[in-house]
Amino acid sequence: MNEVRFGIIGCGVIAPTHAAALDKIENARLVAVADIQEDKAKGFADKYEISSYYKEYNELLNNDEVDAVSICTPHYLHSPMAIDAARAGKHVIVEKPMAITMAEADEMIDECKKANVKLGAIFQHRFDPAAQCIKKAIEDGRLGQLVMGGSYTKWYRSNEYYDYGRSWRGILSKGAGGALINQAIHMVDLLRWFMGPVDAMSANISTLTHPIEAEDICVASIKFKNGALGTVEASVSTVPNMPEQLHISGTKGTVVIEGTKLARWDIEDENLKDMQALCFQDVRFQGKSYYGDSHPRQIEDFVLAILEDREPYIDGNKGKDALEVVLGIYESAREGKQVKFD
Ligand SMILES: NC(=O)c1ccc[n+]([C@@H]2O[C@H](COP(=O)([O-])OP(=O)(O)OC[C@H]3O[C@@H](n4cnc5c(N)ncnc54)[C@H](O)[C@@H]3O)[C@@H](O)[C@H]2O)c1
Repeated sequence: MNEVRFGIIGCGVIAPTHAAALDKIENARLVAVADIQEDKAKGFADKYEISSYYKEYNELLNNDEVDAVSICTPHYLHSPMAIDAARAGKHVIVEKPMAITMAEADEMIDECKKANVKLGAIFQHRFDPAAQCIKKAIEDGRLGQLVMGGSYTKWYRSNEYYDYGRSWRGILSKGAGGALINQAIHMVDLLRWFMGPVDAMSANISTLTHPIEAEDICVASIKFKNGALGTVEASVSTVPNMPEQLHISGTKGTVVIEGTKLARWDIEDENLKDMQALCFQDVRFQGKSYYGDSHPRQIEDFVLAILEDREPYIDGNKGKDALEVVLGIYESAREGKQVKFD
């Protein structure tokens, strides 16, 4: 096998990002798509010049030409679709969040293992050059002992985005939450990746400005197992729509990401300009997109994981990291108490 042939399930907002990524990756090809809205599947197939499109995703799973699937559907469908795909012998890469409960995420991991297929969980920002530079600085001890981390996603989404409360977005049974699990989860994933496992969290959520069940604003206080403290702010109600920020402070300095770029690099004997140049040296697939430019990097890694028979950089277990924190924050807010992890 020297090429991985993909099917995309769900032809909505994020699907073109997957199709464009597959187009850039040498050893990958899009061969089929499925969407419950058949006209969407057909339009997508026409646009990307592929002949196989389906209304029922199980028909795509029966197509022998498909080796792997990208799951780009609403959150509540990720786990059942991933399990069906694994049972059909397809490798699975699934959009964030990989599932809406930890039990579902564990079942996906078990089923993929049983079927001997790879499971990848999309968190494309771990592949951002800025995030890679910070991870390396932490691993090398250049930030010293980590003391504080903050993730701030202060975005704005209109009522149209939620289709005035009729879309899957904002419905708890379909999305599992709002601003936190849908938007801020990317920064939560980076915060958790940089700061390490979480010990305890306390949170408040509110629904202030949209006709939805889920929260449109959330603030959480986190204690990490290494003793450091953290903050998570998530909003789709604040104006203006600001670039998300991540602040990481250690005893030897502070670094800040804004959007997908390094915005501060305050470490002794190092400076922002040099780090920016270093970070973006030799980076593959540079481009501009609303979702950053790292989907091709993550999907290429997933393709190579299949071809080289190794684990993807973000496998199912790593995909669970942010989900666990997000679900812990919701539990804390719901119960009005601190939630502690073992
Ligand atoms: N990584 C990122 O930056 C990023 C950005 C946007 C969205 N996402 C994620 O991508 C996923 C999809 O989000 P979206 O904004 O594209 O949603 P969307 O509603 O625009 O698209 C979802 C598509 O799935 C289709 N669908 C629903 N049920 C189906 C079924 N049973 N079988 C086949 N197709 C079905 C819908 O018809 C729709 O076309 C979500 O998990 C979301 O969190 C990730």
